[in-house]
Amino acid sequence: MKTNWYERAVVYQIYPFSFLDNNNDGWGDIEGIISKLDYIKDLGVTAIWFSPLYKSPDYDYGYDIADYRAIDEKFGTMADFDRLLAECHKRDLKVIMDMVLNHTSMEHPWFKKALESPDSPYRDYYIIRKGKQEKGKLLPPTNWASTFTGSAWERIGDSDEFYLHLFCREQPDLNWENPKVREEIIAILKFWLDKGVDGFRFDVFNMFSKVYPFQDDHQKGTFQKGGQYFVDGPRMHEFLKELNEKALSLYDSYTVGESYHPSKENALEYVRRDNHELDSIFNFAHLAADNIADKKFFWKPFNLRQFKDGLFQPQKDNYGLGWNTLVLENHDNPRSVSRFGIDTKNYRYEAATMLATITYLGFGIPYIYMGQEVGLTNCPFDNIEEMKDPVSHFVYDLMTSYGMPKKLAFNFIKYGARDHARVPMAWNDSVNGGFNEGALPWQKVNPNYRQINVEKDLKSDKSIYRYFQKLLKLKKESEAAIYGKLEEYAHDDRQLIAYSRQYEDEGLFILANFSKRPAVYEAPAELVWSGVLLNNYPELENKSGTLKLKPYQAVVLQLAQPTNKK
Ligand code: NOJ
Repeated sequence: MKTNWYERAVVYQIYPFSFLDNNNDGWGDIEGIISKLDYIKDLGVTAIWFSPLYKSPDYDYGYDIADYRAIDEKFGTMADFDRLLAECHKRDLKVIMDMVLNHTSMEHPWFKKALESPDSPYRDYYIIRKGKQEKGKLLPPTNWASTFTGSAWERIGDSDEFYLHLFCREQPDLNWENPKVREEIIAILKFWLDKGVDGFRFDVFNMFSKVYPFQDDHQKGTFQKGGQYFVDGPRMHEFLKELNEKALSLYDSYTVGESYHPSKENALEYVRRDNHELDSIFNFAHLAADNIADKKFFWKPFNLRQFKDGLFQPQKDNYGLGWNTLVLENHDNPRSVSRFGIDTKNYRYEAATMLATITYLGFGIPYIYMGQEVGLTNCPFDNIEEMKDPVSHFVYDLMTSYGMPKKLAFNFIKYGARDHARVPMAWNDSVNGGFNEGALPWQKVNPNYRQINVEKDLKSDKSIYRYFQKLLKLKKESEAAIYGKLEEYAHDDRQLIAYSRQYEDEGLFILANFSKRPAVYEAPAELVWSGVLLNNYPELENKSGTLKLKPYQAVVLQLAQPTNKK
């Protein structure tokens, strides 16, 4: 069977705003990234995904693109990017660009021209409809909700027309039905592939195709009003195949799709081997194990069973059919050591290494979010003004407008805010955590940078970075960790998480205590191991097959023989 480079990849995600500000203007930049490529490479990763670097007015911090072929000035120039690409390739690091193709920025020239004149051909690049007249009032064309803010429709001036935006109002949705739009997109992909980039992350890709004709959504209790008309739309597979045929397959490229509530069937179809759509897809189901109804601002006690189901089900579903990814953090989620009921204060090292072990040895490509490799924590924001993410503000305003006390509303926001992961990286204990030389950073600096930073971690006896190095080496070198079939154990246990990965005659057994209380695991008779490959504690207590695990202890055992679990 032909294997692809991405099957053995380990990806590091950079959120450029906050990585390293080399020119001390308050924003991270490309020069800063280049200066840390050796640090990234030494971790053991093989590819970097860059959150958007393109020209953007930053209503949604880069996810609103105003020019798909230009680097935003605050990050540098195209010449800087070309150097970044060359420096990555020199180190054998692949480069994955973020592609936001469901919508543009409202400052994209296409949108500006679309609004300039009703006869502009660019009007059909977007989704513009007349509103509904009801009892003398002009209402949006449908009752669909945007993912981030109220109605998904924004009125155009004082006309009777509206444009669709499934995210912020500054992010108008593109009309993928228009073949010209798809041609433009294909040309953009080729522009970057011709430069030599190695792949793309497609932002909310399963919203490209909408259901026509548009109609109100009368379903009750759905995750989002209108979702059934704009998620996994009828032409999704066709659109992806077209991108493949006309751009992606002409290069040795890799794609990962960020999807939004895809059906189980579609999630597999998008990545099914030889389907010629995407190479892999993100799975976030396990990250909802401490959220009510998958809503990140609504906290509930962590549910380990839900975490396990969310993590393992897609791995089982896709095994042998399509490829998978393994994620704990990104720019849209709080820091993993600060959630899931974890006792961060006492067990940050143990929890960060345990989480990585149980996640990254599963079936799929590990994705590491910058700072996760040293266990960065959530930022103690003091008030909503300190937060930059428009979503935090929108939800806060909404809650308070319904009468929720400000303090309570802010507590909800603080729990799930995307802002936590977006604060400047803590490199050392100098000013602003070494992010820059003292200019006011665009976003609050986590005040704990003196205690938790890269330099300190690297010097520590309990270095998370060094544990990650061992873990990633194991991941890349073990056929079982890449191709092995996954069997879950101890599924109903409320403290333990356990699974085996077996490929031909190689087997691994991954076992962890996902709690701060000691845990006991009675190893089943079929489990015979020949050694401990990885352990985040100095020892593993074993009394004739009864394993005693310390708080957040994680171990990887080398199986002496296949377990043949039925
Ligand atoms: C998903 C991205 O990860 C998120 O940051 C962004 O706000 C939305 N898509 C809209 O582009």
